[in-house]
Amino acid sequence: MAKKKAEGYLSAKESRRISKANRKITNEFEKQHKRKNVPESEYLTKMRDPANTLEIDDLHSYFYTDVGTVKAVDGVSFEVPTGKTVGVVGESGCGKSVTSLSIMQLLQRPQGQIVSGEIRMNLGGKAVDIAKTPIEAMQHIRGNQISMIFQEPMTSLNPVFRIGAQVDEVLALHNEEHRTKEQIKARTIELLQMVGIANSEGVYNMFPHELSGGMRQRVVIAMALACIPRLIIADEPTTALDVTIQAQILDLLRQLKDQINSSIMLITHDLGVIAEMADYVVVMYAGRVVEKGTAEEIFSNPCHPYTIGLMASKPVVGKKVDSLYSIPGKVPNPVNMPDYCYFKDRCESCVAGCDGEYPREVSVSPTHKVSCYRYYDAKEGKNNG
Ligand SMILES: Nc1ncnc2c1ncn2[C@@H]1O[C@H](COP(=O)(O)OP(=O)(O)OP(=O)(O)O)[C@@H](O)[C@H]1O
Ligand SMILES: [Mg+2]
Repeated sequence: MAKKKAEGYLSAKESRRISKANRKITNEFEKQHKRKNVPESEYLTKMRDPANTLEIDDLHSYFYTDVGTVKAVDGVSFEVPTGKTVGVVGESGCGKSVTSLSIMQLLQRPQGQIVSGEIRMNLGGKAVDIAKTPIEAMQHIRGNQISMIFQEPMTSLNPVFRIGAQVDEVLALHNEEHRTKEQIKARTIELLQMVGIANSEGVYNMFPHELSGGMRQRVVIAMALACIPRLIIADEPTTALDVTIQAQILDLLRQLKDQINSSIMLITHDLGVIAEMADYVVVMYAGRVVEKGTAEEIFSNPCHPYTIGLMASKPVVGKKVDSLYSIPGKVPNPVNMPDYCYFKDRCESCVAGCDGEYPREVSVSPTHKVSCYRYYDAKEGKNNG
């Protein structure tokens, strides 16, 4: 780890030394990624539970930057059962997007890398470990099997091409059914209708700037669903929209998910959205999962002090308060994480064991897990703390 001067700045020499070390590490990773003709057996794997679409197991994704290694995702495990919606919540910078970009193999390379862990994706007859899948093979999975909806629709749409051409392109790129040009156009119009665009033939010939934000997000959803993916990752899909449109888009997403029987990983910092959409909830803090369970369990019995804080900082209709609760303090520096519980310095309900190493996962129920010393029983606390 980089030595820092008292003020927290790195010297130029130190920074150069880090860059050099980083290059060595990332070159090694890149060599692995770029290999051609890798036998499939190298990245084929088995799902732990065949009823899951995705299983993430102890995932570590780091950014090797000039100021040190950012451990953006530092040991994340959770699964997405087939046909279900899993909500991922946590405050800004906790690693939600980096987790989803890791699943898509879209981390900003070469500095961003999946360092260890498994991402098992169920492809029907077989399963692959995305962490080991070479770039070449990943191109067939991305878009076809997993697709992503981003927060701001204009990041996914090209302003200089007509809507129809952009959706057509997605279909042509993943043209497993060998459709002709006319058939592709017909399918695009059908998709635009499916996402609730009334004048779909007209919209086909429009440019993105001619549409409203909600319409654009519908187009993006149409593009994401074009190839009937098994997994849809929606990263803050409605944050850029006003509440009424937000509700419509969420309804649409839920309805389409059931229509094509896929699963959704829904990233949001809006607990209201989670409550409405999710079957399961994963709560992340500083690159780790601090609590997970069914939506019912997380909302009726939040256990981790961070989850409890999140719930308390949500306004409740009909409840009068002078000021809304906010969790004190700030997230630790991702380059320099403490060796104890990452939430300890902000926690208002610490117990004796909290000085010990990072707490392991404790089962509150078979589906409900929390990483917190408050749920260790006395004997366990002694052994692990
Ligand atoms: N390209 C990058 N280079 C270096 N660090 C990065 C990069 N991208 C993300 N990070 C860092 O990784 C951490 C996790 O970021 P991430 O984007 O996953 O947060 P998030 O949970 O999606 O937050 P938000 O709710 O604001 O979208 C942050 O500390 C961020 O600074
Ligand atoms: Mg994000």
